[in-house]
Amino acid sequence: MSTFLFVTPTWDGQAWAQHMQGAMPQRTMRVWPDMGDVADVHYVAAWLPPANVLRSLPNLKVIFSLGAGVDAILSDPTLPENTPIVRVNDPDLTMRMSEHIVLQVLMHHRQQRRLDANQKAKIWDNFPQHAASALRVGVMGLGVLGADAARKLSVMGFPTAGWSRTRKTVEGVHCYAGATELDAFLARTDVLISLLPATLETDGILNRGLFQKLARSGPFGAPILINAGRGRQQVEADIVAALDAGELYAASLDVFQKEPLAPSSPFWSHGKVILTPHSAADSDTATICAYVAQQIERFERGGDLQNVVDRRQGY
Ligand SMILES: NC(=O)c1ccc[n+]([C@@H]2O[C@H](COP(=O)([O-])OP(=O)(O)OC[C@H]3O[C@@H](n4cnc5c(N)ncnc54)[C@H](OP(=O)(O)O)[C@@H]3O)[C@@H](O)[C@H]2O)c1
Repeated sequence: MSTFLFVTPTWDGQAWAQHMQGAMPQRTMRVWPDMGDVADVHYVAAWLPPANVLRSLPNLKVIFSLGAGVDAILSDPTLPENTPIVRVNDPDLTMRMSEHIVLQVLMHHRQQRRLDANQKAKIWDNFPQHAASALRVGVMGLGVLGADAARKLSVMGFPTAGWSRTRKTVEGVHCYAGATELDAFLARTDVLISLLPATLETDGILNRGLFQKLARSGPFGAPILINAGRGRQQVEADIVAALDAGELYAASLDVFQKEPLAPSSPFWSHGKVILTPHSAADSDTATICAYVAQQIERFERGGDLQNVVDRRQGY
């Protein structure tokens, strides 16, 4: 008997278990706190697991994250030390994220909000639009998601750069690496896009000091921020202050320090903010379950697990 357990207290574990059962009909599905015989639990899907739950499973072989980020698993201080953590890396999720990023860049580049306001007010104003070549985009994080978004923006004609911890090679993208090259990357960037993971190093990285290092010579006279990485990366009071002071021209935010975003947040009604509810890359449930089933099948045949998280780096 091999059990697949969902330890996802903030999600609808029952609904996920039903989908996963379809992908793995021969396995028993359980949803914490109903764990059955803990000795039977070989695989777990976790998101914000309560302390000591994963540690109580003596035969646990793999912990799965049902998303690309793993911060909500690594946050468990009682996480078993040696169990591999596998995250989702799936073309469907990547495609959705790139759609979101391209959409946000174009919303700002083509001044869609201004056009919307004009339509509502019945104002015929065909103000000049800028060429893509005038707007330099810069992607923080050149992993699976960042590299794909950067490639697509580059193909559309935006001068594109990226920044990562270690140096990458991405066609059409000027690649910067490490803390020593961050300032040069920022200085040439009109639209800053974060697709970084949440780690101790990236916490609070999107702050006013960093915004002040961005280019100011672009078509809008001040830089634009797009964050679809994690809310922990952004100092929200700094974003509001920078928008109000004109240090940022606009922002597209998909992620927040605290989600769901409180009704009292100034972002809801800020005229310079495009807000989405952490929906940039909501992947298809069936696709994710098929990916997990395929990883387990491969592992049980003696193959290597794919997309295993580097716990020391935190992503
Ligand atoms: N909003 C949403 O709906 C949504 C959906 C999915 C994912 N996400 C977020 O997107 C993040 C990225 O996903 P991914 O699959 O692209 O991750 P990934 O493949 O692990 O890539 C992470 C990238 O960030 C870079 N990085 C990490 N720490 C850094 C640091 N301190 N300084 C500079 N660069 C650093 C890495 O550098 P190296 O290449 O040198 O390792 C890598 O290029 C996830 O962790 C998650 O938080 C959001």
